Amino acid sequence: MVEIKTDAAMDAMREAGRVVARALAAARAAAAPGVRLRELDEAARDVIESAGATAPFLHYLPSFAPVPYPGVICTSVNDAIVHGIPGDYRLRAGDLLGIDCGATLDGWTGDAAETFTVGAAEPEDARLIAATRGALEAGIAAAVVGGRLGDISHAIGRAGRAAGYGIPEGFGGHGIGRRMHEDPHVANEGRPGRGFPLRHGLVLALEPMLTAGGHDGYYCAADGWTLRTQDGSRAAHFEHTVAITDAGPRILTML
Ligand code: MF3
Ligand code: CO
Repeated sequence: MVEIKTDAAMDAMREAGRVVARALAAARAAAAPGVRLRELDEAARDVIESAGATAPFLHYLPSFAPVPYPGVICTSVNDAIVHGIPGDYRLRAGDLLGIDCGATLDGWTGDAAETFTVGAAEPEDARLIAATRGALEAGIAAAVVGGRLGDISHAIGRAGRAAGYGIPEGFGGHGIGRRMHEDPHVANEGRPGRGFPLRHGLVLALEPMLTAGGHDGYYCAADGWTLRTQDGSRAAHFEHTVAITDAGPRILTML
């Protein structure tokens, strides 16, 4: 069931989204060669806790996972697409790092992610990052009253395919509100003019994932969480929590 939010709920989600943005920025600022991924998790945890918020990722146990999620962020390095666990791995210069973070404040949740290079970016990584950010921007631009859910999926997918990248099948964005994962599922490819009608108060987490090798295959690593590209190529992931409003798309997970 799709839950439409009131204006007050969207304002409350904006505050949760601000905490997400601050925690993401702290984790990103901590990322440097030699730093362990768990140190990024600690940086994000400090921000979430000091804001009086809680971490919806921590102990999350969806049906596909064998163990509860152990971090407050996901850290996905190089061929990891999403859901990488922030463990003892030490970052190296040139690593492509995706950080995904959520926060729940006053009962409302925000969810966002970004991908960047640790140190200087190789041109092919910079192109992958730009295309994935562009796919998110295209999805946000399609998140308008009067459109359909398929317009968003189509915009994301077309941007990714036009750049020659792969799109892992079955993964995508989601409704979000009092729970991190609500209806509807937002596929990263789709047909325009189809699907749930977009209206004021619908809040969605949009999250394109693109693979550099151009293939859509992925597998789950032995840790039960990390999704990696089948072809070993690098992947990028961007996400914002976005409210559809009569005044246009409102990005909730910004500083
Ligand atoms: N943005 C991610 C998603 O919607 C957040 C995953 S949280 C985790 O799938 F705990 F499942 F890792
Ligand atoms: Co999400």
